[in-house]
Amino acid sequence: MQELASKYDILKVIGHGGFSAVFKARSKEDPEHVVALKQLDFVLENEDAKEYRDFKNEVEILKRLDHPNIVKIYDEYILDNKPSLEMEYVDGETLESIIQREGYFSIEETLEMITQMASALSYCHHYHTYDTPPQHWLSDSVIINRDAIIHNDINPKNIIRTKNADGGYRYVLIDFGLSFADPDAVRHSKKEDGMAEYKAPEKWRGQLVDTPSDIYSLGIVLYELLVGQVPFPVKDYKQANEMIALEEKHKSAPVPDICRKRMEAIEKKEGQRPETCDIPAWLEMLVRRCLEKNPLSRFKTGRELSQFFYNGLDGKIETQERQAEVIDIDPSMGAKNAGAYIEVEPNILTEGQHFFINKDLVTIGRWNDLPGTIADFGIRTSDRFISKNHCQIVRKPDAADGYRYFLQDKAPSKNGTYFNTEKNSIRLSDTTEVLLKEGDYFWIGNTRLIFHQG
Ligand SMILES: Nc1ncnc2c1ncn2[C@@H]1O[C@H](COP(=O)(O)OP(=O)(O)O)[C@@H](O)[C@H]1O
Ligand SMILES: [Mg+2]
Repeated sequence: MQELASKYDILKVIGHGGFSAVFKARSKEDPEHVVALKQLDFVLENEDAKEYRDFKNEVEILKRLDHPNIVKIYDEYILDNKPSLEMEYVDGETLESIIQREGYFSIEETLEMITQMASALSYCHHYHTYDTPPQHWLSDSVIINRDAIIHNDINPKNIIRTKNADGGYRYVLIDFGLSFADPDAVRHSKKEDGMAEYKAPEKWRGQLVDTPSDIYSLGIVLYELLVGQVPFPVKDYKQANEMIALEEKHKSAPVPDICRKRMEAIEKKEGQRPETCDIPAWLEMLVRRCLEKNPLSRFKTGRELSQFFYNGLDGKIETQERQAEVIDIDPSMGAKNAGAYIEVEPNILTEGQHFFINKDLVTIGRWNDLPGTIADFGIRTSDRFISKNHCQIVRKPDAADGYRYFLQDKAPSKNGTYFNTEKNSIRLSDTTEVLLKEGDYFWIGNTRLIFHQG
């Protein structure tokens, strides 16, 4: 039996989770050779075990990956009866610890990171394993099939940033996991917990995982780099109800507005709220596209993501003006925008929003990030029961130089508008106009809107 201690000097422990330990180690044979050694916490009975064959096969493929932004795997061994992986030692910090320290990334840093990770994913999402049989290894970590390698565990712990000799940064994707580990054990591990915030809707559904699932996870990482936290954070993985809510959010909740969250993060760190959001509109679109619920609506692979990215940098992505006047609920804003407004009550499908009425006719509908008709007040929601032009508010001058506001549903909407009553009870007819008073409310779909006279 080969012993770790006879082959390496351990310089330090750099990571240990439930299923492996990672060391910085120096080869005894060649003291110049400093490596990262990952030893799986799995005792093998013998070298003919199926698990070991799977492990070897998989490592054989990973060893062939040769890309500056993917950790280089050198070799695999059994040391102290445990499968072990010798790889390039990346001297740096994980994105997780950088975000913890710095709060968020600058736009330039984010662009640099995207350049490199999109390149890494282009490479493995189009990797053709010519000389292996068309197998499909499916694990909780990497997935290898003939035409693609899917990382399947992209998160900020698995991306390390290191400094190049020229002072620039190199981002390296690590932890192309090992499929032979007991899937049940992995499923219940801490590792799975950590992943949950990065896990694509189709994974929650137990559907086929493919390259767009990596795109989703990368999208969550990008969101986190820009705003300092994931779109759907979890406080306690052990709380079943939190996990159920998390699943629901990944499957159907809209992603909280990136610009708003970034401005909040900047305000928190700098003590002053920036006047404008520094995220280019095309970059916001890129992150949103990564985070589409439907995998078919995302970039299919790292290559598509790269193409969009470079088009964005070159100014070739058409962006719409940001939807005007969707204003965060913030009482201090009231003074600036005095006047009547509509408050949207937040729920699992819909973000909390304010909209000030300063036109004679305001159409209210579902905000949609695709080109096409958009209501004056496009509510940021994934509530499919709200139409694009669902209902309208008419403003009329009153005798005292003020205005009166009326609600109508004249288009008429598919699913109805319910004024001061239960949702789905008696809908407004398409000929009715009701006068709105402070505190009046109406339901459209599963979302409640409240009128404020201002
Ligand atoms: N090649 C490497 N170079 C430097 N640090 C590494 C390397 N591989 C892993 N690490 C560190 O060890 C931690 C755990 O390694 P990882 O392969 O992600 O194992 P796990 O399966 O436990 O997530 C990483 O988050 C990183 O901090
Ligand atoms: Mg990891």
